[in-house]
Amino acid sequence: MNDQAEKLRQMAMDVKKQIEKEMAQEFKHTRVIVVASGKGGVGKSTLALNIALSLCNQGKKVILMDADLGLANIDIMLGLLPKYNLHHMIQGKKNLKDIIIAGPEGLSIIPGGSGITELANLDENTLKRLLVELGKIDGEFDYMIIDTGAGISNNVISFLLSADDVIFVTTPEPTSMTDAYGMVKAIARRSTGKTFYLVVNRVVDNIEGVLVAEKFKLVCDRFLNLHINILGHVINEPLVGEGIRRQRAFIELFPRSQAAKNIDSIASNLINSNDKGTSKDIRNGGIKRFFKKIIGMA
Ligand SMILES: Nc1ncnc2c1ncn2[C@@H]1O[C@H](COP(=O)(O)OP(=O)(O)OP(=O)(O)O)[C@@H](O)[C@H]1O
Ligand SMILES: [Mg+2]
Repeated sequence: MNDQAEKLRQMAMDVKKQIEKEMAQEFKHTRVIVVASGKGGVGKSTLALNIALSLCNQGKKVILMDADLGLANIDIMLGLLPKYNLHHMIQGKKNLKDIIIAGPEGLSIIPGGSGITELANLDENTLKRLLVELGKIDGEFDYMIIDTGAGISNNVISFLLSADDVIFVTTPEPTSMTDAYGMVKAIARRSTGKTFYLVVNRVVDNIEGVLVAEKFKLVCDRFLNLHINILGHVINEPLVGEGIRRQRAFIELFPRSQAAKNIDSIASNLINSNDKGTSKDIRNGGIKRFFKKIIGMA
């Protein structure tokens, strides 16, 4: 008799555990992080790719989306030749899984292509199909990193407003800093619950990296009443260009270089910041919600 009661108790415990597991999975969303800058050519694509790879190396599952309307950067940087992009998925010719390509270190990549502009004008059926597809991968990844083009175009702004978090990239050049500030200002008042991160790229040394970041943070604090979370800086390193020429990510080619160490520290700061819950509610956000926001449904 006792045995039977014990068995029943065990069964009830198993069911409870299963339900808890399913609930936890349901609430786990992919963190959508957009990489942006005011001025062009400051290193967004380089950082998006190398931070994504560093996150992979640190045990995270990452999907990288190329949303730059200009040149399709990320695939060229890796010497990949994607056959399909978001456009083919929007047209209904391909499923999401068909357009995702495999990068190094287990990184997944979604080539955006002309599909990025099409997002703004979707009919209801296409939209539903797109959201069902995107829902399938929500939670499958820890991070979705999105590389954007430079500047305050409507497209880029809607990406920034829809993201869970934004990483702003600037160099120490005054024009790059003022353009980055302009960008922060453009979205600051329209954003809630988002973490604004900053990376200073191409610094001459650590001191410059720290000083530029602190200055930027102070200005945002004082004039926009906005908290900027400094992720770190990356040294100006000629080997970065070498990576591009050889169509390999530079943290893979030169993992012991100072710039690679800088990238690793940025990625681990990002993980720590997320784990500490700077970017709070895991029930909000996610890939599906990001695209819903972009197309004005959420
Ligand atoms: N830390 C660095 N040290 C040296 N060179 C760098 C560094 N970061 C980026 N670069 C170089 O700067 C150039 C521009 O980089 P990248 O293409 O990543 O910028 P971007 O912001 O994506 O540009 P765009 O606005 O055109 O999309 C590239 O030639 C790249 O090799
Ligand atoms: Mg780029």
